[in-house]
Amino acid sequence: MTVSESREAINPRLVEDAVAGLWQQPPVLPARWLYDKRGSELFDEITRLPEYYPTRRETEILDRHRSEIVSTTGARTMIELGSGTSEKTRLLLQSFAGAHDAASPDDGFTYVPLDVSVEMLTSSAQQIAAEFPSISVQPLHGDFNDPDLTLSTYPGPRMAIFLGGTIGNLDETQRASFFGRIARSLKSGDYFLLGADLIKDTGRLIAAYNDRAGVTADFNRNVIEVLRTGLDAQGLYVDDFEHIARWNPPEHRIEMWLRARRNVVAHFGAIERTWELPAGAEILTEISTKFDLDVLHQEMARQGLEHTHTWTDHAGDFSVVLARVG
Ligand code: SAH
Ligand code: TRP
Repeated sequence: MTVSESREAINPRLVEDAVAGLWQQPPVLPARWLYDKRGSELFDEITRLPEYYPTRRETEILDRHRSEIVSTTGARTMIELGSGTSEKTRLLLQSFAGAHDAASPDDGFTYVPLDVSVEMLTSSAQQIAAEFPSISVQPLHGDFNDPDLTLSTYPGPRMAIFLGGTIGNLDETQRASFFGRIARSLKSGDYFLLGADLIKDTGRLIAAYNDRAGVTADFNRNVIEVLRTGLDAQGLYVDDFEHIARWNPPEHRIEMWLRARRNVVAHFGAIERTWELPAGAEILTEISTKFDLDVLHQEMARQGLEHTHTWTDHAGDFSVVLARVG
């Protein structure tokens, strides 16, 4: 057996993203690499941290308005982009399951969770299928930024949902193309349900992305381990990187960076390239944009998503917007 055969297959997407991003100034890496098996587990832990308010606030909104979501949309299929554990989605699934009759062939309900994290997707979909025997669960392993995303083949009316404030992980240009693609991948009269975090006190925002227990730091730094194992690196160590969460006022977003604690000289065997990061230099790993509702409504409307309902939680921290595809 040769050495290369004993290694795990190299993921060409990771090679492409690393080559395109790591030698930029500043270096960047697309956020999807945060969500390997361990990253997905750490994110799940983040959602339960005392500082991380978005999950609890969004749950409150979904719970309060789920019957209205079901009756307004009349959806027969719910497609969830970046579904993760599908934890909050269970509330919607309960309401949809109650509104549809699985015994009638024309009235079944379909749930399509879509995620890049294949382990999380598979185990969550299995659990949901067991919990909701009347729902047809059809997991889709994929990228929500895929230009060929087609959702109109599922039984209509359809509702695509994008929760957790993940929309904030896209910049303005990416959001415009994402909204446009969603609108085009659905049909006129279908719906889109979006969870978006709102601009608020900077101290609370920073705490939500830099928790005391250090779970967010571990989550961010795990991407170094993804690079090390995925690209067969020598000289690359998680402990050489420090987690930074910083508020960017003009862009009203939290930025997650990893700062080199010492000079890093790493050799990636998979691509035969050496990556140098001087002590103190930083890589951008994620952004989490916070929104003003009027601006968000405009961004959606420009791409053919007409907002029909907007709900916030009791504290005004988080929002859920329901939009109709025009
Ligand atoms: N919806 C869940 C999880 C949000 S975290 C919640 O509200 O808590 C973001 C999720 O999106 C993760 O499950 C991650 O694996 C997934 N994800 C990140 N980038 C993605 C991409 N480009 N395509 C598909 N899924 C992606
Ligand atoms: N979608 C989540 C958010 O923006 C992702 C997230 C939470 C995240 N905490 C993080 C991403 C820390 C990177 C680092 O709220």
